[in-house]
Amino acid sequence: MDCNTGAAERLSPSPVDSAATKPGCTVRPSCPSDMEAVQQIYAFHVIHGLASFEEEPPDLHEISRRRTDVLDRGLPYLVGELDGQVAGYSYAAPYRARAAYRFTVENSVYVDHRLTGRGIGRLLLLALIQECAKAECHQMVAVIGDSANTASMALHRQLGFRHVGTLHAVGFKFGRWVDSVLMQRSLATCSQAVPTADKPAASG
Ligand SMILES: CC(C)(COP(=O)(O)OP(=O)(O)OC[C@H]1O[C@@H](n2cnc3c(N)ncnc32)[C@H](O)[C@@H]1OP(=O)(O)O)[C@@H](O)C(=O)NCCC(=O)NCCS
Repeated sequence: MDCNTGAAERLSPSPVDSAATKPGCTVRPSCPSDMEAVQQIYAFHVIHGLASFEEEPPDLHEISRRRTDVLDRGLPYLVGELDGQVAGYSYAAPYRARAAYRFTVENSVYVDHRLTGRGIGRLLLLALIQECAKAECHQMVAVIGDSANTASMALHRQLGFRHVGTLHAVGFKFGRWVDSVLMQRSLATCSQAVPTADKPAASG
């Protein structure tokens, strides 16, 4: 069951194609039948946590609709499987809708609350970064609910994100004001290189 990997960066450049694995843990593209587990994982974090600013868990239909929207944009929606069960998921979505943002994505990564601390989040985020880089996305932004979300901030820092700002008290959940922490990393090997195609995966 140990998914920890100090060597996650040494995964092949195509971790999903080649099945990013540690013993018992695999990251692969999602399929429609995974969405029930995804809905349950996310619902727990919506109800009990501050990572998401949603207050009502979306139902299976809505979760599936969101996945379709991600895939229709050519962006990755991945799941982490542990012993044959979906243990977490990650996906990328457009950071903002206006055209000039089209090379920038926002990431989401959620792990089953009973299975955290085993390296699954790290594997999911690493694979997502690699897939988005292949899709010619240029920057990845993490919008992290709650400045006390040390697990998420440490995970992102470990995978090359840097803290670029905190929006103070922009959320109100569980009867209190909540910060939104912004972290960012480049997906490009050369930060100034212009895109080879003007229609990246993230655009609509
Ligand atoms: C954040 C989250 C995805 C991390 O997933 P995870 O599988 O528990 O994390 P991992 O076991 O892969 O840990 C990877 C790194 O994250 C950091 N980390 C994980 N849990 C941590 C914790 N409780 N406290 C501090 N750092 C932590 C560590 O740096 C860790 O590396 P290490 O094991 O080498 O020290 C998971 O806790 C989660 O789903 N949280 C709720 C939702 C959420 O906050 N999502 C992110 C929204 S942007």
